[in-house]
Amino acid sequence: MTDWREVESRVFMKTGRRLPVVLVRGEGCRVWDEDGKRYLDFFGGTATASLGHSHPVLAEALADQARTLIITSNLMYTIPQLQLGELLVEHSCLDRVYFANSGAEANEAAVKLARKWGRERKDGAYEIICALDGFHGRTLATITASGTDRYKEPFAPLPPGFVHVPYNDIEALKNATNEQTCAVLLEPVQGEGGVNVPDDDYLPAVRRWCDEQNVLLMLDEVQTGFGRCGTLFAYELFGIEPDVMTLAKGIASGVPLAAVLAKEHCAVFTPGDHGSTYGGNPLATRAGYEVVKHIIEQRLPEKAAADGDYLEQRLHGIEDRLELVTSVRGAGLLWALQLSREAGEQVVLRCLERGLIVNNVRPDAVRLCPPLIVSREELDEGLAVLEEVLAEVGGAPAK
Ligand SMILES: Cc1ncc(COP(=O)(O)O)c(C=O)c1O
Repeated sequence: MTDWREVESRVFMKTGRRLPVVLVRGEGCRVWDEDGKRYLDFFGGTATASLGHSHPVLAEALADQARTLIITSNLMYTIPQLQLGELLVEHSCLDRVYFANSGAEANEAAVKLARKWGRERKDGAYEIICALDGFHGRTLATITASGTDRYKEPFAPLPPGFVHVPYNDIEALKNATNEQTCAVLLEPVQGEGGVNVPDDDYLPAVRRWCDEQNVLLMLDEVQTGFGRCGTLFAYELFGIEPDVMTLAKGIASGVPLAAVLAKEHCAVFTPGDHGSTYGGNPLATRAGYEVVKHIIEQRLPEKAAADGDYLEQRLHGIEDRLELVTSVRGAGLLWALQLSREAGEQVVLRCLERGLIVNNVRPDAVRLCPPLIVSREELDEGLAVLEEVLAEVGGAPAK
């Protein structure tokens, strides 16, 4: 039998650490490794497998589209791209769309859009205010926009024009605004930063401030979009509308696809400003069209909201019972358990041994982001394993 882990260590660049498992197949919320061991997947490709694994709607759409048309060029019209674009505009508060291939690329495009808007509409303003602990991707501009220093330091010099403030602190954001500010870029709930949910009044206050200051509000919904937080887009939770929104992950349940949407007033790209060979190709956008249509038709955001209420109550129960868990936070099907110490990796490895995949989003926090199709039985099964592991790792008697 091939030792795949040896192959990886021999030929791959060392960009990240992997869990000691080689996955070969998935179905619904389950995945199987090369030895046939079955796992319950509460990570879902980092909150990407919105419809779980091998969903028939997606598998059939992909097979059909692969037999029909995989790639042309954005020099020509293709129907799946137009259908998905129309669907996204119809179901969001935004007016225009651009398709990319990854979350980072979508944010890169949003940064360019904001800079062009600033140049044309605000006397050359180019600064973008971002949040500490925010995450927007791994390109040069998006690591600069992200709020974690260790992602940036090895790659200096970084592009200028990004300012960072603490998340959920409206006064800090106000103080960082000046005549050079063209946009604010925030996640409505910070995902990679540890599932940080802002206070209810934070984003409405940011929205009001941006309006007063003539600054664009750009929301990165790469992780929170498509029902993840219990509404189709997380901005709906806060009763606001962004000027620009970026999307990826759940849009096509794992097929690489991303989008930037903008209100008409700031959709300032003109021909030649931006482009991508693969962006919006028929294969990916057909996948996206069928997935998004399914999410809407099956009311998966509402289901995620109900699952979120259930998880909240169950996770608070775990918090009450175990010393190791100091708090829980999240919305819909995106949650984190805060640990009293840096035991996240240990929890993840022990869960894996017992057939549950979770993620240590921070050294001291464990993230749960199962597919939107997860059943109550599967939630219960995963929570039972998780609680057992947390109790064992915590080593302390119940509170
Ligand atoms: C909020 C957010 N933005 C952007 C990204 C980057 O997306 P990608 O890895 O597809 O480039 C991520 C990835 O985790 C994310 O969570």
